[in-house]
Amino acid sequence: MAELRGDLEQIVGGTHVLTDPDVVAGYVTDWTGNWHGHTAAVVRPANTDEVSRVLARCHRAGVAVVPQGGNTGLVGGSVPLHGEVVLSTARLNRIEEVDALGCTLAAGAGVRVADAQRAAAGHGLALGVDLASRESATLGGIVATNAGGIAFVKHGNTRAQVLGLEAVLADGRVLTRWAALPKDNIGYDLPGLLTGSEGTLAVITRVLLRLVFPAQATATVLVGVDDAGAALSLRDAILEAGLTLEAAELMTDDGLDLVCAEKDLRYPFDDRAAYTVLLEVSGPDDPEGSLVEVLARCAGVVDGTVEKGHAERLWHYRESHTESAASSSVTPVLKLDISVPVREIGGFLAELPELLRADHPGIRPLNFGHFADGNIHVNLLDVPPEQREEVTDAVFRLVAQYQGSISAEHGIGRAKNPWIGLGRSPVDLAMMAAIRHAFDPAGILNPHVLRFD
Ligand code: FAD
Ligand code: MLT
Ligand code: ZN
Repeated sequence: MAELRGDLEQIVGGTHVLTDPDVVAGYVTDWTGNWHGHTAAVVRPANTDEVSRVLARCHRAGVAVVPQGGNTGLVGGSVPLHGEVVLSTARLNRIEEVDALGCTLAAGAGVRVADAQRAAAGHGLALGVDLASRESATLGGIVATNAGGIAFVKHGNTRAQVLGLEAVLADGRVLTRWAALPKDNIGYDLPGLLTGSEGTLAVITRVLLRLVFPAQATATVLVGVDDAGAALSLRDAILEAGLTLEAAELMTDDGLDLVCAEKDLRYPFDDRAAYTVLLEVSGPDDPEGSLVEVLARCAGVVDGTVEKGHAERLWHYRESHTESAASSSVTPVLKLDISVPVREIGGFLAELPELLRADHPGIRPLNFGHFADGNIHVNLLDVPPEQREEVTDAVFRLVAQYQGSISAEHGIGRAKNPWIGLGRSPVDLAMMAAIRHAFDPAGILNPHVLRFD
């Protein structure tokens, strides 16, 4: 290992091979605090060529590598648990070009989402992906996890934004598919395949993303509703009124109470409701007035507050959920990001607490998420470590009963490996394993993540 470290220092420079335990601490524990391991070294290459030489050298030594961006992943996929080398993309942080005419952004994989959003806004454009981890999550990370997020309801997931990628394969070869063309239909969609590959097929070093035109005028409402059915009816009424949904988020009464307690906020309404939705809409003229009219005629609406634009004050209630759950739980939050058919949300949300109450009365469920996508973030607080697996199993089997998915947007990582068969057939798993072997026959890229065996 000393020889390998020496060679890595030759490639990236001595200051960019980190081994001091205090210095690497942040690289070997994940955001949830549930996954912590150790690493032979954290390596911080400055460009695609250095990534290529680092990987070729690790490949020659048969040393496993974990690619890491902002380390905000929530399924244990971004940290080394068995001494793997961490390849940090932090220095791949150059925004190369915003093409305002072609509506594209070219950037290094280590660019933070928020920095890319600011660069696009400087040209009157926007990224089609937004998520609460924007200040830390990287472009390479949202591509590698095929992140969904807040804007999915209007622009789709990260895969829908990817026009091209530059990536380095396990053996150091550089794969570049970089066509700033609306249409380029030659062969397999390799960028689409690398999107969502969670660091197991290649290290993404540069991304070429489409940009979108942001809505000129929006309005935001935080509104209490009787049940999930009322939330979906409100969504339909908004669309029927000719408004566009920019975001559609669901929270529960318990969740709002938790956020208010953890963030010292006032409960947003006088009259409480079982569920609260946060909706941001856009429209040709006066979206705020149109929204108030829709709310007035919708059944199941209990109490609400409407504000012009992207109301940060209202969004704060939703975006504080992840941190509030983490600060309130006495154990690392068990985060089960799932999806069910939209029509099943009400049934699933009604059955889940019953399921938990019967066998795990001490667990506090906190459910919230991007409900118009059928995506519920089941966050379970105070789960005793020895119960994590059986609780996960119970929830995922309930999801399977509702024909849902055990991963809506966070990926599989290490956390969900045992349940991957709940969503994929043996033939499907065998083909994904064959693809992984074709890209990385030596099995050095994130070997413990996204397992098909
Ligand atoms: P990391 O955590 O560093 O890595 C994630 C995975 O991608 C790992 O498997 C890693 O090996 C791989 N990887 C990272 N960079 C590369 C690369 N350059 N090449 C190859 N593989 C790579 N996620 C959502 O989808 N929607 C949300 O709404 C959302 N909200 C969040 C809110 C909070 C407060 C937090 C903490 C997280 C949230 N997340 C959400 C999860 C997380 O932000 C996303 O998964 C994000 O895409 C991770 O980006 P990252 O740069 O932190 O990647
Ligand atoms: C979010 O949407 O805030 C995250 O994806 C959910 C989570 O933290 O569980
Ligand atoms: Zn989410």
